[in-house]
Amino acid sequence: MPDQPHQPFLYVVVCASGVAPGVGALITAAQRRRWDVGVIATPLAMNFIDVAAVEAMTGHPIRSAWRRPGEPRPLPDPDAVAVAPATFNTINKWAAGISDTLALGILCEAYGAGVPTAVLPCLSAAQAAHPAYRRSLDVLREMGVRVGGRAPEGAASGGFPWEEALDLLDIPR
Ligand SMILES: Cc1cc2nc3c(=O)[nH]c(=O)nc-3n(C[C@H](O)[C@H](O)[C@H](O)COP(=O)(O)O)c2cc1C
Repeated sequence: MPDQPHQPFLYVVVCASGVAPGVGALITAAQRRRWDVGVIATPLAMNFIDVAAVEAMTGHPIRSAWRRPGEPRPLPDPDAVAVAPATFNTINKWAAGISDTLALGILCEAYGAGVPTAVLPCLSAAQAAHPAYRRSLDVLREMGVRVGGRAPEGAASGGFPWEEALDLLDIPR
């Protein structure tokens, strides 16, 4: 029997933003582009998403906490990571190298592992005005992270641009 081609695996990292319940749009778009998808949610994001519905869509458990030593790894290694939506909190901690959620741990290690990573920030104009945010985006860009999303006021009018994450990662349609 010929070898099955490797189906690439996308990690979708979801933060606790008001748009998080719509993450199914990104999962469906990635699957349409023939990628397998696993979702990593921050602990607070678990309150924003329909966990059972997302797990049914992906066929994988949502990861939010570290596994215990000796437990098998529930997801394969990622070929790419999309952080969508990304909150002010997680963006600033990621850029600072803080790793106090599983999502941040995965993001901090993705850089060292050379995994292509895209981020779609979702925050208010007041959050975006904080000087730490601009510095964090500069750091992430220096790390090679592909930054998308709209200005806060644009996001409100045009909807959240889920599929842009896949385009930033050069995942073909
Ligand atoms: C209904 C609701 C919507 C929120 N939307 C956003 C958002 O779009 N962007 C953001 O940065 N924070 C938002 N927050 C605040 C974050 O949930 C909060 O900063 C949290 O600590 C983020 O945690 P996380 O980065 O670990 O997901 C929202 C909070 C609530 C209650």
